[in-house]
Amino acid sequence: MKTSELKKKIAGEKAVDSIENGMTIGLGSGSTVYWMLRKLKEKVDSGLNIKGIPTSKRTEGWAKEFGIPLTDFSETTKIDLAIDGANEIDTNLNLLKGGGGSLVREKIVNHLANRLIIIADDGKLCNQLGKHHLPVEVVPFGWKATARSLEQLGCSTTMRLQDEQVFISDNGNYIIDCHFGLIENPNKLHEQLKLLVGVIETGLFCNMTDLAIIGHEEKVELLR
Ligand code: 5RP
Repeated sequence: MKTSELKKKIAGEKAVDSIENGMTIGLGSGSTVYWMLRKLKEKVDSGLNIKGIPTSKRTEGWAKEFGIPLTDFSETTKIDLAIDGANEIDTNLNLLKGGGGSLVREKIVNHLANRLIIIADDGKLCNQLGKHHLPVEVVPFGWKATARSLEQLGCSTTMRLQDEQVFISDNGNYIIDCHFGLIENPNKLHEQLKLLVGVIETGLFCNMTDLAIIGHEEKVELLR
């Protein structure tokens, strides 16, 4: 296994220790979450009684494959714990997310959860967010005008593509990747972006993380 994958596995598996019987769990998205789900399957098979709310169709597929019971917002809006990945984690545990394009569902689930645990390999840690582009989900109608509004906040923009086609999110929307460079005040930028007509959600997750579990080569680090 590649070292980066091993670090994700270490972090993902550790997070399962925080899952207790009877909990409703927000199931985040991405390859680190995959390892968490694999470990959770073992616990479910041994009798752990939980229900998961997936944040992407991909996660839903994995959870079904592993036999993890699922629920949705028609049954409950109470989420005890959410476990999710991140593309970047700063020293205040603010996050840049959305590399996989699931930021809206992740934001809804993580916001509702009583507790949010982020799992990641150590390559995701940074002093300041913004090394990667910032994903912003927008309504398809008038998206070029929305992209221009985004650019007026000081970034260049790229429409997210997949296999040379426009990427469509699980919610039927587009994602515009914004290149701001290093972000001085993530919360302020998030608020500015949210005021733009056509913007649905941003990949900045500020003041939400309770615990980050970081996988290193031979250990896990807990950041609070
Ligand atoms: C998807 C996300 C993922 O959590 C993020 O991309 C991290 O993924 P990975 O664990 O594969 O590095 O935000 O929208």
